[in-house]
Amino acid sequence: MNLDDIYRETILDHNQMPRNKGTLARPTHTFGLLNPTCGDRIRIDISIEDGIIADIRFDGQGCAISMASASMMTEAIKGRPVEEALDLTRNFKRLVLGQDPDRDLGELATLEGVARFPSRVKCATLAHNALQEALEGGRTGRE
Ligand code: FES
Repeated sequence: MNLDDIYRETILDHNQMPRNKGTLARPTHTFGLLNPTCGDRIRIDISIEDGIIADIRFDGQGCAISMASASMMTEAIKGRPVEEALDLTRNFKRLVLGQDPDRDLGELATLEGVARFPSRVKCATLAHNALQEALEGGRTGRE
């Protein structure tokens, strides 16, 4: 098994068994976002307590890349301070745009290959953009 196979298996695993999928009963922050190129939507619910992402869920439908990326992102930021979550998201975007990230991205790094397929960048960043909107914009709207 080579590195590409391991990457593929990790992405398939998250797509087939997404972590933190669903909604929160009382999110402090929530945001829904549409991928205009395909019509797929994703919604992020977050519960922030004392500046920490105490809980997070994502809901919606999309391709394997978008679902795997959302699933990995929720695992990566749960329990972390808001600023750190935003930093991780910014660095993930650098990665899928073909730039060097400033930090270790854990399993999210398995999506590095997306950089070779510009049309899939929106898929990989959909959940991350929704997270950023919810956290930075302080927005609580739902689609
Ligand atoms: Fe719709 Fe990837 S094709 S999110």
